[in-house]
Amino acid sequence: MSSNEKPLITVAGAASKQGRSVVQALLESRRYRVRALTRKLDSPSARALARQGAEVVAIPLEPGHARELAVAFRGSHGAFLMTPPLTPPATHEEALGREQADAAVEAGVSHVVFTSLENVDEITAGRKFAPHFTDKARVEAYIRTLPVISSFVYLAYFYTNLVEYYRPRRQGDTLVFPIYLPQDYRAPFVDPLTATGPAVREIFDHPETYRGQSLPVVGDILSPQQMVETFERVTGIKSAYASAFTRDELARHFPDLAANEGFVRESIGMVEYTVEHGYFRPERDLQWSRRTCPATLSWEQFLRTTGWRGEERAFGA
Ligand SMILES: NC(=O)c1ccc[n+]([C@@H]2O[C@H](COP(=O)([O-])OP(=O)(O)OC[C@H]3O[C@@H](n4cnc5c(N)ncnc54)[C@H](OP(=O)(O)O)[C@@H]3O)[C@@H](O)[C@H]2O)c1
Repeated sequence: MSSNEKPLITVAGAASKQGRSVVQALLESRRYRVRALTRKLDSPSARALARQGAEVVAIPLEPGHARELAVAFRGSHGAFLMTPPLTPPATHEEALGREQADAAVEAGVSHVVFTSLENVDEITAGRKFAPHFTDKARVEAYIRTLPVISSFVYLAYFYTNLVEYYRPRRQGDTLVFPIYLPQDYRAPFVDPLTATGPAVREIFDHPETYRGQSLPVVGDILSPQQMVETFERVTGIKSAYASAFTRDELARHFPDLAANEGFVRESIGMVEYTVEHGYFRPERDLQWSRRTCPATLSWEQFLRTTGWRGEERAFGA
């Protein structure tokens, strides 16, 4: 296939962890061309995307770019759509997702893959507040009404949250992991940097198989205690769990994060929802990503592959 005959996939948020993974997996397959949307053409990540072979176009992950998006999606067979992590009080996730979807349809895209999550508002009858879940579910519901093949990936909790946001602290000879879930609660986790791309590529490879499907992307299902024990075994560093599950515990361990009341409210809503209802609805196929992409990393494999030993690392774009 000459390079112009390869289907073009346009990736929104291409410099994000999920976006980078998608760009890489699509290009590595040599079956697709990729147009990568990112805020600035001269950022290190934009340059890296270009070096990998993507056509890089400057469009930020913010609403208000409908025209540019429609132009950017033109000629694309597929589009990967995503919304960024918004720090409260910002609330434009739903508007941004809808705008991306409308632009993809206007441009004649055949297949849209949106990175979504469960509708916490619906599942909990409004009792838990987690708009960064519910807003994605609302975007998903909207996309389902549009004249386009659509599929949805649901990423589990990121392993990288412990590296980027909820970092462990040294106390004497012990590395203490304040984790936002109860010690023995088993939750789904994943590495967004390596798992998103292969899962999304599998979906673009088989549009009819995955038409209308919502697919969890999971690397491991384990408790914080198991995460800490695995970390200790892999690194040889004495480690301990500490709870950052409740509002007071979160504030004690992460005063900077807790200074934003909107963030605390969302964070508490999310973890209480997870513990009371499960992160995913019970009918989801939690084995799908590991079955179709066997290289999806477990927590132990993530630690061994990245060599992470508890130090601060940024995955910023
Ligand atoms: N953390 C979790 O456990 C988890 C689990 C499931 C789903 N999610 C969802 O995953 C999404 C985040 O994905 P990710 O972690 O792959 O993203 P990410 O690595 O944090 O990257 C987000 C991208 O958004 C852009 N960006 C950053 N700050 C921005 C701002 N203030 N305004 C506009 N654009 C900004 C940047 O792109 P440019 O460089 O191009 O500007 C950046 O690359 C969120 O919607 C989150 O809810 C997270």
